[in-house]
Amino acid sequence: MRLTFRLSVALMSSVAAVSLLIAFLQTRADTKDAVSDLDHHGLVLADSLTKSAEQLVGSHSYRDLQRLVDRFADREHIAGIAVYGGAGEILATTSGLLSELGRQPDNMKQLLETGNGKQESFVSPTGSMHLTALPLRGNGAVIGALALYYDATYIDRQAAALWRRALTGVLVQTFLIGAVTLIAIRWGVGRPLQRMAARLRELRIGGSSWGSQVLSGPPEFEPLTREVTRLASSLTAARAVAEEEARLRDTAESLWTAERLRIFVQGRLSGSRLFAVSNREPYEHFFRSGAVTYQVPASGLVTALEPILRACDGTWIAQATGDADRETVDGNDRVRVPPDHPQYTLRRLWLTKEEEQGFYLGFANEGLWPLCHIAHTRPTFRAEDWEFYESVNRKFAETLLEEIEGEENPVVLVQDYHFALLPRMIKERRPDARVAIFWHIPWPNAEAFGICPWQRQLLDGLLGADLIGFHLQQHCNNFLETVALTLESRVDWEQFAVNRNGQHTLIRPFPISVAFEPSKPRNEATMETPYLKRAALLEKLGVRASFMGVGVDRIDYTKGITERFRAVERFLEKYPSYKKEFTFVQIGSPSRTSIKRYQDLTNEVLVEADRINRRYQTTEWKPIVFLNRQHSHAEILPYYQTADLCLVSSLHDGMNLVAKEFVASREDEHGVLILSRFAGAAHELADALVVNPYDTEEMAEAIARALTMPPQELRIRMQRMRATVHERNIYRWAGTLMEELCRIRTGPALEEFPLTRSASFRG
Ligand code: G6P
Repeated sequence: MRLTFRLSVALMSSVAAVSLLIAFLQTRADTKDAVSDLDHHGLVLADSLTKSAEQLVGSHSYRDLQRLVDRFADREHIAGIAVYGGAGEILATTSGLLSELGRQPDNMKQLLETGNGKQESFVSPTGSMHLTALPLRGNGAVIGALALYYDATYIDRQAAALWRRALTGVLVQTFLIGAVTLIAIRWGVGRPLQRMAARLRELRIGGSSWGSQVLSGPPEFEPLTREVTRLASSLTAARAVAEEEARLRDTAESLWTAERLRIFVQGRLSGSRLFAVSNREPYEHFFRSGAVTYQVPASGLVTALEPILRACDGTWIAQATGDADRETVDGNDRVRVPPDHPQYTLRRLWLTKEEEQGFYLGFANEGLWPLCHIAHTRPTFRAEDWEFYESVNRKFAETLLEEIEGEENPVVLVQDYHFALLPRMIKERRPDARVAIFWHIPWPNAEAFGICPWQRQLLDGLLGADLIGFHLQQHCNNFLETVALTLESRVDWEQFAVNRNGQHTLIRPFPISVAFEPSKPRNEATMETPYLKRAALLEKLGVRASFMGVGVDRIDYTKGITERFRAVERFLEKYPSYKKEFTFVQIGSPSRTSIKRYQDLTNEVLVEADRINRRYQTTEWKPIVFLNRQHSHAEILPYYQTADLCLVSSLHDGMNLVAKEFVASREDEHGVLILSRFAGAAHELADALVVNPYDTEEMAEAIARALTMPPQELRIRMQRMRATVHERNIYRWAGTLMEELCRIRTGPALEEFPLTRSASFRG
C-alpha cells in the first residue's frame, strides 16, 4: 500500500472514530435529559391529577372520573391515563390506551400494597413508553392509583436524528481530511521529492549542468536539499575530474591535480617531512580597528608554494612582517594556516630593523634583484648589506635546523634570491637532508652576474643544494656558464649538474604556474554577460567605457608599468575613435616602499597616469585608472574575467604569474593576453600577442589588434593557452620538482673528480 494511502486511511479512521465516540456520548446525554424531562413533566401532571382523582374515587363519582381522564387525554405526548380502584380494578381510562400499549395496563398491584409511586420506561409493541404512577389516598389509606403513560418514541426519533447528523458530519470530515492529506502530501512532500529525484536522475545520466545550482524546496526540506545539492556538486566535480582524467588517459597525458600531488608527495617523502623557507610569509596578521585580521601578500612565490605545503602538511619558515604576527603564534612562534582552514604550519622568524634593512632592502632588493633583472636599474652592493645577508641566512638556517631536528631525511625547499647561502649552511650540518632551492627570478648571463663582488660566495652557497631550479632552460644555461667561469668545480653539461667539493647539484628548469581549477558547468541563460559586468566595474571606478584593458602588478620597475601607459597613450593617438571607449585599469600593489627607487617609481607611475589622463579625459571617462593598493585575488578576478585584454609588459621577468592567472580565469575563452617577450611566460604562451615592451608602437598596435580580433581567432588562441596552463599547472611544477629532488641520493657523491678551476664538460 502506498504511503499516501496508508497515511490518509490512518488519519480518516482516527478522525471518524473520535467523531463517532463524541456523537455516541452526545446522544446518550441528550436521551438521558429527555427522559428526566419526561419524569419531571409526568410527576407534575400526575400530581395535579391525583387531587381531583382522590376526591372522585373517594366519592365513587366514576363518570366525573372518566371525564377528568378524557380531558387530559390529548395533552402532548400523552399515550393514555388509567385510574385504578383499591383492588387494582380499572375505574377509568382514556380510549385507545389499550391499542397504544398493545396490552392491558399494568395492574398496579405492588404500588397499591406499598403505597409508593413509580416511574419507568419500557418498550411496548408500538414503541418506547414512559410511565408515571402515583397512589390515590383517602382517609389515610391507599384507595387506588393513577397511571400516566407517555409516548416516548419522540426521544428515539431525536436520538436517531442526532446520529444521522453526526454520521453525515463524520463522512464529510473524513472525506475532507482524506482529500487535504492527499493534496498536502502530493504538493508539500511528493512534488519536492519528485523534483529532487528528477534532478538526481538527470545528474546520474549525465545530462545536467545542475551541479552548482542550489535546489529549492520547502523550509522543512532544507537539510535534505542542502545535502542533496552538496552531493550533486561533489558528483559533478568528481565526474569533471574523471572525465578529464579519462580524456588525458585517452591522449596518453596525465594531469597533475592537488590530490595527485598530495598522494605523490606523500609517497615520495615516504615518512620524511617537508620544510619550506622563504622570506615572504604566506599570511600576515594585522590589527585593523582593534581586531586581528590577515592578508595574503602579493607574491608569485606565495601563490606557487602554498599548494605543496597544503598537500603534505609541511612547515613553512618565513619572516614575520604583520604587526599582529606575534599575537597569533604559539610559544614556539608557530601558527597553523590558512587561518580559516589550517592545513600546514607557519614558523615565524623576526628580523631586527637593521637586519631588514641590510638583508632584505639592501642586499636582496637593491643588489640581487636589479642584478638579475635586466631592467636598467643599477644594482647597489654595500659591504654592510652583505654581512647582514650572510647573518640573516645563518639565522634562517638555525631556525630551520631547529625545526628539522629529530626528523629523518627531511626535505627542504628553499625559495628565491634571499637565501643563496642557505643550502650549504644546511647541508654542512645535515647531509642527510634533501635540499632544493628554487630561484624565482631570472639568472642573467655570466658577465652581468659577474659584477657582484660576492658572486663566488653566492654560487658556493647555492651549490650546497642537491637541486637548483629555475623557470627556464635559458636561466639554467646562464647559471652553469656563471659557475664554469667563476668557481672550481666540475660542470657536467650533459647531465646539467655541478660537482663541487663532493656535493653533486642538479640544475633543472621547472616553469612555475598557477592552480587551474576545472571549469564549473555554466548556465548561459542566467549568466551576466561580461559586457554588463565590465560596465558595472567601470562605473564603480567612475568611468564609462565599452572596452577595458587590465594590468596587475606589484609596483616594480621590472614590470614596465610606465611603458604600458605610454602604449595606451599612443594607441589613443593612433586610434582616436577609442577615446571615451577604452579604459585601462592598472591594479598596482605597493611594494618595497622603503627603497627610494620604488618610491620614485610609484611617483613616476602616478605622474604618467595623470599626464595621460589630463590629455584625454572627459567628465565621464579617462584612459587610465590606477588603483594603487593591494587587492585580494577575489577582488582582482572580476577584472580578469571581464577585460578585453590583459597587458603584461615586464621589462624582464622570471615567469610572471599574472599572465597565467588571467588565462586560467577566462572560462569564457575570451580576452586577449598581450605579453612581453622578456617574461618567462612568453616561452609557454605563444598564443598571446607577444610584444617588446620597449617598443611603444608595437604595444599600441597590439592593443588595437586585441580589440578588433575576430572572435573565432580570439577563442582559439585562448583555448590553446588555457590548455597549456591547465596541463602545466602549479601541481605539475611542484610534482616534477619533488620527483627530481626525491630521486637524488643524499650523502657524499659516488665519484669524486679532482677539482680543476672551471673544469667543464659540454655534452
Ligand atoms: C618576486 C620574488 C618573491 C617575492 C615577490 C614579492 O615574486 O620572486 O620572492 O616574494 O616578488 O616581493 P616582496 O619583496 O614583497 O617579497
